[in-house]
Amino acid sequence: LGSRDLSGRRVLVSAGPTREPLDPVRFISNPSTGKMGFAVARVAARRGAEVVLVTGPVDLPDPPGVRTIRVVTAEEMASAVEEEAREIDLYVGAAAVSDFKPRVAAATKKKKSDEDEEVTLTRTPDILAALGKRFAGKAEAPILVGFAAETEALLQNARKKLAAKRCDLVVANKVGRPGVGFASDRNRVTLVGPGERANIEGTKEQVADAILDWVVPVLEERRPR
Ligand code: C5P
Repeated sequence: LGSRDLSGRRVLVSAGPTREPLDPVRFISNPSTGKMGFAVARVAARRGAEVVLVTGPVDLPDPPGVRTIRVVTAEEMASAVEEEAREIDLYVGAAAVSDFKPRVAAATKKKKSDEDEEVTLTRTPDILAALGKRFAGKAEAPILVGFAAETEALLQNARKKLAAKRCDLVVANKVGRPGVGFASDRNRVTLVGPGERANIEGTKEQVADAILDWVVPVLEERRPR
């Protein structure tokens, strides 16, 4: 039996992509499979935490012992996270939230024509940044962990994200290489924050354990039981 070092802790995890409708049968999305977020939820539960998982549309079954809430759009994910973030010790934002949505979602299926079609995109809420703002300077602030998938300037961008979103840790991973990242069972990441750890490589469960290994002592210090 492994360590139960998260027992009594409440953990909220977001996972998967979101879908932003253009019409009832078309949407904007990304190739996130939810594997990283599901691994974090599963491992946190195994380490004794009470876990809620908010996920966009993915092909994965509910992890055992995890209350799983399924959503579709960024706005639905934002409301579910906002609601579930009361009284948590830790939020891990592993979802690949669409940053933009079509300004108008047509009520009926768009007809094909030979003309080009213009779509105006508008911003979706930044869920992690909203939590950073909501809890900034508050005694009950949970630990906030974000992800940064970057194709270049990995560490610089991750450090910027850490400050801009006011989170405690950013899990940075390079994307656009075969075999790791999106849709893969393995990942290679750098933990960017106090006590930076570079080049953690392994299965997504091993990466989840490494993230939680970083979190546990910070939690003991900041939110002693
Ligand atoms: O800004 P960027 O999307 O690269 O940041 C990634 C981090 O921010 C992830 O942790 C992701 O879950 C979170 N995020 C969010 N809401 C958004 C966009 C990103 O919570 N609209």
